[in-house]
Amino acid sequence: MSAKAWGGRFAEKTDALVERFTESISFDARLAAVDIRGSQAHARMLAKAGLLTDDECRQIVEVLTTIGEEITRGEFVWKIELEDIHMHIESELIRRIGDVGRKLHTGRSRNDQVSTDLKLYVRDAIDELDRLLQDVQLAFVGRCERDADVVLPGYTHLQRAQPVMANHYWLAYCEKFQRDRERLADARKRVNICPLGAAALAGTSLPIDRFETAKLLGFESVAANSLDVSSDRDYLAETIGALALIAVHLSGWAEEWILWCTTEFGFLKLPDAFTTGSSIMPQKRNPDVLELIRGKSARVLADQQQILTLLKGLPLAYNRDLQEDKLAFFDALDTVAASLEIAAPLITRAELRRETIRARIEEGYLDATTLMEYLIQRGVPMRTGHEVVGGLVKLAETRGCQLAELSLEDLRAACDLIEPNVTDALGVDHVVAKLKSFGSGGREAVAERVAAWRERLGVK
Ligand code: ARG
Repeated sequence: MSAKAWGGRFAEKTDALVERFTESISFDARLAAVDIRGSQAHARMLAKAGLLTDDECRQIVEVLTTIGEEITRGEFVWKIELEDIHMHIESELIRRIGDVGRKLHTGRSRNDQVSTDLKLYVRDAIDELDRLLQDVQLAFVGRCERDADVVLPGYTHLQRAQPVMANHYWLAYCEKFQRDRERLADARKRVNICPLGAAALAGTSLPIDRFETAKLLGFESVAANSLDVSSDRDYLAETIGALALIAVHLSGWAEEWILWCTTEFGFLKLPDAFTTGSSIMPQKRNPDVLELIRGKSARVLADQQQILTLLKGLPLAYNRDLQEDKLAFFDALDTVAASLEIAAPLITRAELRRETIRARIEEGYLDATTLMEYLIQRGVPMRTGHEVVGGLVKLAETRGCQLAELSLEDLRAACDLIEPNVTDALGVDHVVAKLKSFGSGGREAVAERVAAWRERLGVK
């Protein structure tokens, strides 16, 4: 008899080249724990359906547990001729308990099995990612007390635009990562639908109870079309889509902080423990961690592309192409998880260079928009106000001074509705006191949002 589980109809041994080319054990061994969980639930369902005796079920469940422990301890020997994790575990079960083990695969196929494994794995991964994202949010919110007084320039086009509270920056990232958490939670709903029992593609003539296995594995519902099940990897595409966006968010943040660490910006100092040196230039402190977060995001975007390209043009139902899904998914998952993990302590420990920021915060006419709004509140049409302030900025620029340093006569010459109280609209501290709209970067609005975030994340 052939050594292969599927070898019954084959006369020739599989070529070694084919074995090497088609194996997936080198990357799907990490599904071992979920494969065992899935098989144990399947065995329990088979017993309930009368397809296994209680004693057979008990033996299978016990031996699978033992095999799982051996895998965890690193004692299990992987053999390329056994292809994948499913065959490894099943053939070891059969080696140990013979015919009883040969009954486990009743009413299922590797096609529904692998998707069940993956869904269990992805579900756990989503829960872990949610924790990691929350840790990053907590790191940002955790800074808010000590940075509460710091005003930073806000940018558009990387040109100084308007001042905002530093905490407004931190909470901006909390919002982005919150949407990432919500996207993952939404993907999780479709991850949490049980494929098991769809068998190869058509279901089975055996009296299995798919609702029972779904319940045992904590799935919320049962996939309703067996053809769809064996081809469906939407849940991977969705989850990796969420991972790609997390990577984009991390990369944008990393880029911003890399800039802030430059002498040119001088806003931020990273802790020594999170900085690296140069092998030739003794003075260097390089933000390599941030650069790698930015750089590694490229991998995640490529992984997402790989999944979508893999799925494009596959006819129903299972095709072996799908085996490649794990490589891309695991890589994206590991990359994003590692980046989130290292981001949190870095965010906590970086220090704003308050003096440098303060010394230069009045540069760049960050109060111009608020001055225009002052005019609007005095009845000047917005476009006119824009022109008036534009002229004043030009005047200040030729004098090499700030708007607040222009005399009242200069200001009134541009617009006679300007009164001495105009000083309340000038200078960044006045601006952040005046920004009031919901969600704005002003002092009070941001303080309210900090309180809301602290409550949302359960910070005491
Ligand atoms: N290793 C395979 C995969 O990852 C398992 C499914 C194999 N199914 C098959 N019909 N050859 O997709």
